[in-house]
Amino acid sequence: MMFGRNTLLAASSFLLAALVAFLAAVLAANRDTLHETTGYIPVALLASGILLAAISGLQLIVHLRQARRLKEVREQLRRVKETGNLAVRLPESESDDLAEATRTMNFLLKQFQSLSRALQESEQRYRKALDDISEQTKAQDALQDSEEKYRLLFENNPQPMYVYDPETFRFMAVNQSAIEHYGWSSDEFLSLTIKDIRPEADVPRLVEDISRAPEGIHRAGLWRHHKKDGALIDVEITVHSIPFGGQRAKLVLVNDVTERRGLEESLRQAQKMEAVGRMAGGVAHDFNNLLMVISGYGELLSGSLAESDPRREYANQILRAASRAGNLTRQLLAFSRRQVSKPRVFDLNRTVNAMEPLLRRLVGEEVKLVVDLDRELGHLRADPAQIEQVIMNLAANARDAMPNGGQLTVRTENVKLSADAARRHGLTRGDYIRLIVTDTGTGIDAESRAHLFEPFFTTKAKGKGTGLGLSVVYGIVEQSNGAIGVDSEKGRGTTFILYFPQTDAPLEETVTLSLSDEKGACQGTVLVVEDEVGVRELVSELLRGKGYQVLEASNGREALERAGGHAGTIDLLLTDVIMPEMNGDDLSHKLLSLRPDLKVIYMSGYAPQTLFRRGGLDPDALFLQKPFEPQVLIQKVGTVLKPSNSN
Ligand SMILES: Nc1ncnc2c1ncn2[C@@H]1O[C@H](COP(=O)(O)OP(=O)(O)OP(=O)(O)O)[C@@H](O)[C@H]1O
Ligand SMILES: [Mg+2]
Repeated sequence: MMFGRNTLLAASSFLLAALVAFLAAVLAANRDTLHETTGYIPVALLASGILLAAISGLQLIVHLRQARRLKEVREQLRRVKETGNLAVRLPESESDDLAEATRTMNFLLKQFQSLSRALQESEQRYRKALDDISEQTKAQDALQDSEEKYRLLFENNPQPMYVYDPETFRFMAVNQSAIEHYGWSSDEFLSLTIKDIRPEADVPRLVEDISRAPEGIHRAGLWRHHKKDGALIDVEITVHSIPFGGQRAKLVLVNDVTERRGLEESLRQAQKMEAVGRMAGGVAHDFNNLLMVISGYGELLSGSLAESDPRREYANQILRAASRAGNLTRQLLAFSRRQVSKPRVFDLNRTVNAMEPLLRRLVGEEVKLVVDLDRELGHLRADPAQIEQVIMNLAANARDAMPNGGQLTVRTENVKLSADAARRHGLTRGDYIRLIVTDTGTGIDAESRAHLFEPFFTTKAKGKGTGLGLSVVYGIVEQSNGAIGVDSEKGRGTTFILYFPQTDAPLEETVTLSLSDEKGACQGTVLVVEDEVGVRELVSELLRGKGYQVLEASNGREALERAGGHAGTIDLLLTDVIMPEMNGDDLSHKLLSLRPDLKVIYMSGYAPQTLFRRGGLDPDALFLQKPFEPQVLIQKVGTVLKPSNSN
């Protein structure tokens, strides 16, 4: 605008000068008419007008040029404004009024351009830095998040875990489960080393194991740890190498397998005892038949010899040996649960009380006997005679373990077993009676504990023990649906703990077998059925010796033939139970349908319980457990045949 005004001014000065020049020219043309002296004025005016016009023209030209340049500069500046392009430069000329300004402007533009470039660059850097920071923050957040997760996983893991320093063995961290499992507080743990939770004997192996442990994850196997209360546990260990608090560390996962191993061990033990029992029972059963023959014929032989005959003593020796062997097989049968058991509901306290004087005599004066009975004790259903035998055997062992005196305690109490506790003993949950027999004797080492209940396991000198005492105890406890456990360590005395199921049933009176006093010759016909020829002949011989008439058969078919061919009465069928082709029970049914008055006595080397299961035998049936003493046979047959005879 300013330049516009200047141009206008230049143009008007030029026009004015031209007007003056024009007027001067007009005046000069009319000079003749003018005064002589004034005749030069128009000329002078004309000359100055021309001069003025020339100057104004020049000025005008200059102004026009400047106006054009200004326009150019404006255009460029507008472009800069519109496009923001700082690379644009204003046209410069060597020298004019605008030259300095445009140079300055260009300089400024250049400065602006480099400033803007620098700004752009730093903005980019700033943005990148911002991006980096947000990436970093994200990563840090993620790390914190995952650390928190891992901390929670460690802290709240139900499995005991701890972190230790492999250089110093010190605990560096423990989780809640470890604190609860072991019993030490977190602070107590942190003041301990991993050596402190092991039995001393295991420490050298531990140090060795750690020195050889590979990096990464590895299973370190089975170890023994002890808790704060001193209890030993079996644990399976898994170790991970981890960085912890900026240093190398080991994370340990503990799996307590004490209970599992206990159950496995009891199962193994039970299976072993089952196998041994089956074998011992089988041998004892066959041996019984032989013993019956030996003792039966010994009896016959001894009876047939005169009192003065020296051979009678030989026969008696045979009988004594057979009787001892009979004792042995009876114990084996007891162990293999094939002993005849006459269970009834009785009061264990009463049994123990009744045994007290006997036990006192048994343990001797050096040993103090303490009997501690629970007055509220429940009833138990078992064979009282067998339970007496259990207590006697345990007391005898206790006495042997306390040669220099000590204390024997017999305790009874009620106990409720949870499912878990019962499972540990191979029982089901419920109410039990606990019989605890404790001595302060030599104790039993681990090696012996593993074989304690096996038949013929003894640590006693030859002739001092047969190793059957505890086998019998075991068999009886099993037969009574109970369980037995032992708690003992060398030099620390021994406690046997026995569990018997409690019953709500009322007490039953003791049923004593009233044996008939046999006098004089007996009468009646007995059909003896037995596939073992030795046993059959012996039994027949004994019965005949007492005056009975005897029919013999080696199996069911033959027995039916014999009975069919016998015209007179048959009073008694004395039959083996387990026989080939036809068992004793089937035979008795067939014969009873023909001869309804027939009496039946079964005899077998198997316990009647087995026969009730296997042979379908009536639980009320009369039964003779092989091996039986001749006397027992005669008495039993006598009780059955006498009433019919007296009718
Ligand atoms: N209370 C106890 N204290 C220490 N050791 C015991 C005790 N009870 C049993 N034992 C050990 O167990 C072994 C087996 O006992 P078990 O009663 O079966 O046989 P035994 O006593 O040796 O012989 P038996 O009872 O046939 O005369 C014993 O030899 C003994 O080593
Ligand atoms: Mg014994």
